[in-house]
Amino acid sequence: MNACIRAITRSAIYNGIKVFGIYRGYEGLIAGDIKELTTEMVSNTIQQGGTKLKTARCKEFRTPEGRAKAYENLQKAGIDALIVIGGNGSLSGARDLAGEYDIPVIGLPGTIDNDLYGTDSTIGYDTALNTIVECVDKLRDTANSHERIFFVEVMGRDAGFLAQNSAIASGAEAAIIPEDRTDVDQLAQFIGRGIRKSKNSSIVLVSEAQKDGMGGAMYYADRVRKEYPQYDVRVTILGHLQRGGRPSAADRILASRLGYAAIEALKEGQRNIMVGIKNDQIVYVPISRAVKTDKPLDKELIDVLTVLSI
Ligand code: F6P
Repeated sequence: MNACIRAITRSAIYNGIKVFGIYRGYEGLIAGDIKELTTEMVSNTIQQGGTKLKTARCKEFRTPEGRAKAYENLQKAGIDALIVIGGNGSLSGARDLAGEYDIPVIGLPGTIDNDLYGTDSTIGYDTALNTIVECVDKLRDTANSHERIFFVEVMGRDAGFLAQNSAIASGAEAAIIPEDRTDVDQLAQFIGRGIRKSKNSSIVLVSEAQKDGMGGAMYYADRVRKEYPQYDVRVTILGHLQRGGRPSAADRILASRLGYAAIEALKEGQRNIMVGIKNDQIVYVPISRAVKTDKPLDKELIDVLTVLSI
């Protein structure tokens, strides 16, 4: 996020455009917590995780009254275009504001879940993926030494990009993801592959989507304990570890390119689009399409893991 804020700030100033930071997202917009940004204010931020502008989840912005207050504050501050960095919730808010008021809005994809349609990657995803892989490498030592099955729960409420790709990258034995959960019992499938015949330990990446009111990893660990008591099972929930830390080089470059592109898009007169990246090229997608359409997970990734984890 910081790399992107830096890129927007500097690209705007380079082009003679004043730029304001809105603190705590929509909450700050409704409260009028808005300050002009300078190039110095974003110095030494590209390498820092989190966001200097802070962030918040804001229920009020989901109401027309909340958005009316927000628009009023934009007008008061003399702001005539808005750039929103965030995931589906933030960009849905951006779409609603753009639908109700005459202000150009540009969305930038920022979520570790990578679940926004219209872009190959989202800001934060690569860093989170690297964090997960580093953690799984460490867990592997205990898994191997004690000959255990580890269920490692990762973020991605409705999307398995983190679980599937971190499983491939860490050499895990399986991934349990929402996209593949419809008609197969993924646990039976995994155990059925005779996983313990050739290996003395297993690591299964599970996306956090709830199952029977439980987090994914707990649910599957419980089932193994009941249905396959011969296995020694442990659960690790990586949680918010995945949302912090120094951003990867790939994320810094992505965030910088998207921030720069947002200002270019405004200069071209674009409005109500999300700027994304496809095949390493900047693309524009209507915000409404980006938030409405499900981003498909390439099913070949499932085959890659299945084949390589024998
Ligand atoms: O949507 C992004 C995300 O990181 C999800 O993967 C996760 O479920 C959620 O945010 C966590 O949100 P919070 O920090 O509010 O608990």
